[in-house]
Amino acid sequence: MATSALCKAVLAVALFSLVMSCSAGISQHQKVYIVYMGDRPKGDFSATMQHMTLLHATLGSTESWLYSYKRSFNGFVAKLTEEDKNKIASLEGVVSVFPSMKKQLHTTRSWDFMGFPLNVQRAQTESDVIVGMLDSGIWPESQSFDDVGFGPPPTKWKGSCQSSSNFTCNNKVIGAKYYDSEGAMNPPNSPSPRDYGGHGTHTASIAAGAWVSGASLYGLASGTARGGVPSARIAVYKICWRGSCSDADILAAFDDAIADGVDIISISVGGLSPLDYFNDSIAIGAFHAMRNGILTSNAVGNSGPAPKSILNFSPWSLSVAATTIDRKFLTKVNLGNNRTYEGVSVNTFSLEHGSYPLVYGGNVANTAGGYNSSQSRYCLPDSLDPDLVNGAIVLCDGLSDGEAVAAVGAAGAILYEDRLRDVALSFPLPASYLGSLDGAQVYDYINTTRNPTATILRSDEVNETMAPFVVSFSSRGPNPITMDILKPDVSAPGVDIIAAWSEANTASGYPEDPRVVAYNIMSGTSMSCPHASAAAAYVKSFNPTWSPAAIKSALITTAFPMSVARNRDAELAYGSGHINPLKAKSPGLVYDMGEADYVSFLCGQGYTTKNLQLVTGDASTCTTPNNTTVYDLNYPSFSVSGVSGSSVSAVFRRTVTNVGSPSSTYKAVVAAPPGLSVHVQPTQLSFTFLTRTHDFVITVNATIGSGGAVVSGSLVWDDGTYQVRSPIVAHSTT
Ligand SMILES: *[C@@H]1O[C@H](CO)[C@@H](O)[C@H](O)[C@H]1NC(C)=O
Ligand SMILES: *[C@@H]1O[C@H](CO)[C@@H](O)[C@H](O)[C@H]1NC(C)=O
Ligand SMILES: *[C@@H]1O[C@H](CO)[C@@H](O)[C@H](O)[C@H]1NC(C)=O
Ligand SMILES: *[C@@H]1O[C@H](CO)[C@@H](O)[C@H](O)[C@H]1NC(C)=O
Ligand SMILES: *[C@@H]1O[C@H](CO)[C@@H](O)[C@H](O)[C@H]1NC(C)=O
Ligand SMILES: *[C@@H]1O[C@H](CO)[C@@H](O)[C@H](O)[C@H]1NC(C)=O
Ligand SMILES: *[C@@H]1O[C@H](CO)[C@@H](O)[C@H](O)[C@H]1NC(C)=O
Ligand SMILES: *[C@@H]1O[C@H](CO)[C@@H](O)[C@H](O)[C@H]1NC(C)=O
Ligand SMILES: *[C@@H]1O[C@H](CO)[C@@H](O)[C@H](O)[C@H]1NC(C)=O
Repeated sequence: MATSALCKAVLAVALFSLVMSCSAGISQHQKVYIVYMGDRPKGDFSATMQHMTLLHATLGSTESWLYSYKRSFNGFVAKLTEEDKNKIASLEGVVSVFPSMKKQLHTTRSWDFMGFPLNVQRAQTESDVIVGMLDSGIWPESQSFDDVGFGPPPTKWKGSCQSSSNFTCNNKVIGAKYYDSEGAMNPPNSPSPRDYGGHGTHTASIAAGAWVSGASLYGLASGTARGGVPSARIAVYKICWRGSCSDADILAAFDDAIADGVDIISISVGGLSPLDYFNDSIAIGAFHAMRNGILTSNAVGNSGPAPKSILNFSPWSLSVAATTIDRKFLTKVNLGNNRTYEGVSVNTFSLEHGSYPLVYGGNVANTAGGYNSSQSRYCLPDSLDPDLVNGAIVLCDGLSDGEAVAAVGAAGAILYEDRLRDVALSFPLPASYLGSLDGAQVYDYINTTRNPTATILRSDEVNETMAPFVVSFSSRGPNPITMDILKPDVSAPGVDIIAAWSEANTASGYPEDPRVVAYNIMSGTSMSCPHASAAAAYVKSFNPTWSPAAIKSALITTAFPMSVARNRDAELAYGSGHINPLKAKSPGLVYDMGEADYVSFLCGQGYTTKNLQLVTGDASTCTTPNNTTVYDLNYPSFSVSGVSGSSVSAVFRRTVTNVGSPSSTYKAVVAAPPGLSVHVQPTQLSFTFLTRTHDFVITVNATIGSGGAVVSGSLVWDDGTYQVRSPIVAHSTT
């Protein structure tokens, strides 16, 4: 039970919500299915008509139809019985029929911290860049989305705004739509793209919010809030309702975003467990986006630090881990014995009196309600006796969300445990989160004192000198489906980030919380993803014709290397390193790729034609010449795996394209620790013009470390001006 309370706190803060929506109007034996029909046929074509005709001919009625995909790919959503589903699946032209499942939603200082200050060079064309946000909607009135100084949307924009009496777009938020094919809308949401939670507003403002000086959360984290590309436009696709996002709506949003003309898709959403590419709506949507020249930037999830906990790892999308920045929030607890303890939390509340009665949750069980100390010590919902807790500060074992304590009128909460000590969580009441040794001392004080008292101070903002390191909750590799494609790709700030918020929700997200705020501090890979999306948009603003793979390569090969000493899982935690947008705009060389490369890769993975077509949606088939090994995918990093202690060898074939100086000579610089031997052929690449490509081969022999140890090396192509760095990683398969 303690674990589920913990999960709730963590998930709520990262805004993965556990709330599952009920699908209205669906009878017991029907389920919502996605009928996937592949690529959109070229030319004049009425998708909805085709789908209705198909349903009518097969089931005798069109009642089950919910939504048609028609702009970028072909398919529809319908509520079907198992029998109906099988009938439709057997029809010609239907690639697959699969159930729509639910996914979850997984500044400010962060930009300055990565050496990307307010006054960096900006491309004139930044205002032509459109960032598509697939999230919980937006709070359009936020100052971060003010359109002062913006001209009309770029002419390539083909999207629309679902406006209503209280929701309008402007020249900053140029489009907004909501998706609810399954009737998931639940109070307080209204049928509009408005964000009633805050997550979508937060992520959109991290990516492309305007400059807003004097933003803070009650004085905390004060500074200029801004997105990475403050002149870019935002297109909103609301797919999540109270934290729950259905596959049917995710695909609908990709279908529209691609046709609308967005440049980058940012989606901080993930499922509960890893799925193969052909079985994951986000991987499928991102494949269609890639084929249309649009990079999808993903959050890797908040299930770290367990190995293989990573989500959203398709090779055609960018997978972003979360790091700390150089600021953290500490919250002091003063006891009546004059001892002071320091915990981590975001506490903006000021307790008015100097001291409050202090009680231990385990001593104040709601016995009338049938609870005893085995529940109340964790401050589980309803387990505390309101009469004994009212006006007091409660010490709770473990980490919980504080909601149960706030609900019974407590003055504050002191929580303690040793996990998740590298992120400051928000609670609906004054709270501090201590380590277990300090918590035990508070317990001893209560235990040995007649009238114990305490107070909790407002948080202090202090320097995090260890930053950046990958935060504990950030999901780790290796890639569970393709071990030898390194994931995550990069990392970006995702801890204690201040950005715009929805005024329809409270600061902590709990109804007991009185604080309604314009800016809020949040943590999660949900926050790191839009940082990388913005960096991608920044690169694209200087290089509008680059492919998604080229943009990704630029971000990967220019990332700041991170320290193994502070990150036990090394590249499996941080990818190639921490994004460096300034350098990424001119990387020197790129590892480029297109759709055919990914198809050959999938074929080499042993995909059947059926599974291949689930991803591509077209008539691609696997043929022997297209069958390549994972090592031949032109990926900007190198990864080999094997069982602990074994020796493995891999030959990688790569092609780099010159995007730096027309005439240049790059030399290979290899770093290889013991256990890794690397051979590059040739060791020098000479270019005489831009877009010229060169092939090279790199052979890696490695002894796989034991106990999850990662052997990390690197290859840098260096011409004296540009350093194009790729990590070389050997890791265990287990
Ligand atoms: C917007 O309008 C809808 C429908 O009239 C209403 O339910 C909702 O509360 C309004 N929301 C805000 C934030 O004004
Ligand atoms: C994806 O996996 C789920 C769970 O294993 C399964 O129910 C579903 O049918 C799969 N979908 C496809 C397209 O294979
Ligand atoms: C705490 O400090 C105050 C002020 O210095 C002092 O008056 C008081 O006696 C101290 N209490 C204890 C328990 O040490
Ligand atoms: C407390 O309640 C739980 C659940 O009702 C029960 O399993 C447990 O035995 C109780 N403990 C005590 C000490 O009564
Ligand atoms: C103090 O803690 C000990 C050990 O947990 C317990 O046996 C004892 O009853 C407690 N005393 C008080 C006054 O709560
Ligand atoms: C934190 O400390 C580092 C190293 O001393 C310094 O470079 C940085 O500017 C400091 N950050 C803040 C927010 O004070
Ligand atoms: C397969 O390879 C052939 C010959 O190299 C090429 O013409 C064709 O376009 C490739 N097909 C795909 C789907 O990549
Ligand atoms: C492609 O390679 C995979 C893995 O080596 C193999 O299973 C598959 O049969 C090959 N397919 C073709 C068409 O050569
Ligand atoms: C890798 O090992 C093979 C034999 O297994 C050997 O022929 C080759 O020279 C080695 N390469 C390097 C770079 O050590």
